[in-house]
Amino acid sequence: MTGADPLASKRVVLGVTGGIAAYKAVELCRRLVDAGAHVSPVMTEDATRFVGEVTFSALASEPVRRSLWGGPEPIPHTRLGQNADVVVVAPATARFIGCYAHGISDDLLTATVLATRAPVVVCPAMHTEMWEHGAVQDNLALLRRRGVVVVPPAQGRLAGGDTGVGRLAEVDDIVRSVRAVLGGPDAAGDLSGVKVVVSAGGTREPIDPVRFITNRSSGKQGHALADAAARRGARVVLVTTTERPVAAGVDVVRVDTAAEMEQAVLSAAADAGVVVMAAAVADFRAKAPATSKLSKADGVPDLVLEPTPDILAELGRRRRPGQVLVGFAAETDEVEDRARAKLGAKGVDLVVANDVAAPGAGFDHDTNAVTILGAGGGSTRVGLTSKEAVADAVLDAVAECLSAGPEGPDERGARRAR
Ligand code: PMT
Repeated sequence: MTGADPLASKRVVLGVTGGIAAYKAVELCRRLVDAGAHVSPVMTEDATRFVGEVTFSALASEPVRRSLWGGPEPIPHTRLGQNADVVVVAPATARFIGCYAHGISDDLLTATVLATRAPVVVCPAMHTEMWEHGAVQDNLALLRRRGVVVVPPAQGRLAGGDTGVGRLAEVDDIVRSVRAVLGGPDAAGDLSGVKVVVSAGGTREPIDPVRFITNRSSGKQGHALADAAARRGARVVLVTTTERPVAAGVDVVRVDTAAEMEQAVLSAAADAGVVVMAAAVADFRAKAPATSKLSKADGVPDLVLEPTPDILAELGRRRRPGQVLVGFAAETDEVEDRARAKLGAKGVDLVVANDVAAPGAGFDHDTNAVTILGAGGGSTRVGLTSKEAVADAVLDAVAECLSAGPEGPDERGARRAR
């Protein structure tokens, strides 16, 4: 990192809730203190079943607080909340997330996050079944809409010998997110000040006023990319066909058809540093959509199709020096070969090969598994994990391209080859 550490002299409230990942919060505490932050630890009762409070008291800047009652301060949550520069909750259990989302303050930590105007970073950790439950996802979406930064969990070994998505994010990633939230040189991460355009969702191509051709894209992967880019400091324009929630600060352009998406993406891309086409753009549309509802009584219509504009290929033709272009390739057969062919055909820096027939990957899942292919032949495999973690892996590759400078995509790709 160059320049002053944004964590230096900042007051961080570190909330620890009751999950096995509480032991990793010990390392997080140490890293925050080492970076110069003043760390005030708050543990829930359940957290103390996993890690003793003495451990945190010994490492942090102040002794652990656990209760609203009985301490030296009459109203500890307001003092903590008002003085904090940032509140970080790691690990955050489903119970904590639910209480916070619904304004229920039943312990010192939930009272503190409700009593603060400082930014809050929530790092969930739980079993996959709980992480994927609609209640947890809805609560997180609500928190994101209110500006809470969510550092998504990773895939890996969980308590009880299980494996899946739900493991606490790496301490490095959490520290990076906290720095990004606090601002300052380098703070907003590798995409600070970069304009990033992301497309998401499946386009809808009308046949008549009530019918359309579309696909199974939910927009989850594209929205995760937009959220992650914003968290990493980018100025984000999201061109989407869906109503899914987005992080605070993301500019949203709602579109339906490939033609509308083309117009919105090309216009936003004109001064963008990065464009990521995660949308499933229909390849064909009705040549002459009916202006009135087609009637069954008139028999089966002759539907004549024509190709839609290839937005990514057009972006490749218009590419500005230094602009990084990323395509996705949704395939079911010969996935990497076909994806690599698109890399050249569309003139882009990176193609994210997405085997949409693989279990848990592709359309509408909360998880994904991809291979990120560089124009110079390099590739990075991202095994089954959350779409948020895939988004961060794609943006890591984008950041590498950006730091390689305004040279041709082949050169950039070559540098990435591993
Ligand atoms: O939205 P989710 O439910 O989360 O699912 C995510 C996803 C499977 C949609 C996503 O991960 C993905 O793979 N997106 C690309 C889907 C796709 O259209 O792939 P393609 O191989 O047909 O297109 C290749 C690339 O060209 C894509 O970047 C696409 O956005 C772009 N394209 C395609 C056609 C077209 N007319 N214009 C384009 O720009």
